[in-house]
Amino acid sequence: MGRAVMVGRGPTGAAGGLVLSVLLILTTEGCRAQKGDGCGPSVLGPSSGTLSSLGYPRTYPNNTVCEWEISVPRGKRIHFRFASLDIEDSDCQVNYLRLYNGIGPERSEIVKYCGLGLKVKELIESTGNQVTVQFMSGTHHTGHGFYLSYSTTEHADLITCLDKGSDFPQAEFSKYCPAGCLTSTEEISGTVPNGYREVSPQSRGMHVGVPLCLLHHVSR
Ligand SMILES: *[C@@H]1O[C@H](CO)[C@@H](O)[C@H](O)[C@H]1NC(C)=O
Repeated sequence: MGRAVMVGRGPTGAAGGLVLSVLLILTTEGCRAQKGDGCGPSVLGPSSGTLSSLGYPRTYPNNTVCEWEISVPRGKRIHFRFASLDIEDSDCQVNYLRLYNGIGPERSEIVKYCGLGLKVKELIESTGNQVTVQFMSGTHHTGHGFYLSYSTTEHADLITCLDKGSDFPQAEFSKYCPAGCLTSTEEISGTVPNGYREVSPQSRGMHVGVPLCLLHHVSR
């Protein structure tokens, strides 16, 4: 399904160049579809991706906004899985994450979240092939912000970049990793056909507090 996406630093020059150009394509795509001063590292792939608040997992700045406009092929729908949702606010007036069906003035709200340490286990689904994700921050002191993944709804087994192999009891399993697990240090992800592999978790993922997509993706 879909195209293979690989993001990150390669070990060799040639591979590194390839990886870098893919990263640039992804970044350019992302730029067109995200706006505001509160956007964290995000990968907006054509059928899956990952979004985060600025500075994640550190707290996001005061008084920022970001809007991501996500489009998947016509006829498909989008769903979202939350890895982290930690937004300091009691009334959802100035600090919140909001999802809308559609893009532009016709969009309509699906859901709005605020609160520290929220656990959203279920997938949040759109009714159509476009979604706007809006993150607003006012004055606050704490909260990691958010980190989420999306894909088209045929991937019911979508996981987030924070899931690890040890989160699943089976020895072998098939899970759908989102395209790109870009973190604040621009770490790697993997390829859809070959799976996501652990890349030195001691030296990378862990010190920034954002583990990579560590799963072995077993092809079906
Ligand atoms: C937001 O502003 C308040 C008041 O000026 C300040 O105390 C707080 O540290 C700021 N929060 C962040 C995340 O910078």
